[in-house]
Amino acid sequence: AKIDWDAGQAEKGNYPHFMLKEIFEQPETIENAIRGRIDHEMGTAILNGMNLSPRELALINRIVIAGCGSSMHAGMLGEYYFEDIAGISTSVEQAAEFRYRNPIIEPNTLVIPISQSGETADTIAAVREATAKGAVVTALCNVVGSTIARESGRGVYLHAGPEISVASTKAFSSQVVVLLLFALLLGRNRRLSRSEGNELADQIEQIPELIRSVLLQAPEIKKIAERYADKEDFFYIGRGCLYPTALEGALKLKEISYIHAEGYHAAELKHGPISLLDERHPVLALANDIPGKDKIIGNIQECRARKAPVVAVITRGDSAVRSMTQDVIEVPPCSRFIAPLPTTVALQLFAYYVAVARGCEVDQPRNLAKSVTVE
Ligand code: G6P
Repeated sequence: AKIDWDAGQAEKGNYPHFMLKEIFEQPETIENAIRGRIDHEMGTAILNGMNLSPRELALINRIVIAGCGSSMHAGMLGEYYFEDIAGISTSVEQAAEFRYRNPIIEPNTLVIPISQSGETADTIAAVREATAKGAVVTALCNVVGSTIARESGRGVYLHAGPEISVASTKAFSSQVVVLLLFALLLGRNRRLSRSEGNELADQIEQIPELIRSVLLQAPEIKKIAERYADKEDFFYIGRGCLYPTALEGALKLKEISYIHAEGYHAAELKHGPISLLDERHPVLALANDIPGKDKIIGNIQECRARKAPVVAVITRGDSAVRSMTQDVIEVPPCSRFIAPLPTTVALQLFAYYVAVARGCEVDQPRNLAKSVTVE
């Protein structure tokens, strides 16, 4: 056992936990996910493992994404990307729900299972169900040669390297980046012009730099996290692409700090959670400067009127929200498609520092497994 411990320490480098190491690796892991996959000449993405001809790509008229946990949240972002960038109707299913609901697979339905480990039982079952129904299946996996990667036969690897911490961080961000690349490819195959494609490609290439700038703020995020470490409930709210981001942020907090945290679409605040708001129920509001921000500002005012403490994520230099709460985390300016990435990294750091302040076993939270291999 001692040898294992030493080996583990060595792999952690100078970091106290694998989770922190993996959070800080993200500029590089995302570079790895992008490397060789952008074609500036054509303003598109190259995803050879997809193994789909331009004609097969053009025929896809519906996409169904299946996954669990963080991988399902990445899939929810994929829904925004495929619909908004490529104009392809997309739905996301909890993998078990997909499997047991007798899913409708038409000849040109593409099924995308997403799984870091490639071994999640429910997602494997979804792959088998989709294959049996004749769907084209292309998987997004991190672990090379895993069951889902093998059984799908085609797909894209994330190249995030081994993810040891039970709570997913770098695999999630790479999943989101690969979904963006795939949406770019499908978009160029349909309605995006070459210059629009190149504009998106440039934005994707800037993601590592955006994340570096969030990581530099770790000390400030830690200070805010320590002020909230004694809370027992949290609501996370967001809209658009920041709605799945809110779900993922809340999942991180509950996984590793055991604080009850719920992600909500900001517009749902009025349909339930608002009845709980008071000093004991903080709200983490994703108020980045993207369409819908004015509505989030309205939500923050509603929270403050009920004395609920608010932690706000804002776009750097945006003063509108600053005056409404002292607890502000800044992320660099970027488009609505890209915003989930730097924002997620800020929320990962927030969850991490809350969990550390509470003395939790960050890398091995109680009752959770890295890969859930039973249904
Ligand atoms: C477990 C892990 C999560 C992960 C989920 C899906 O619940 O604790 O971090 O998101 O499984 O795992 P997968 O390997 O399929 O992405």
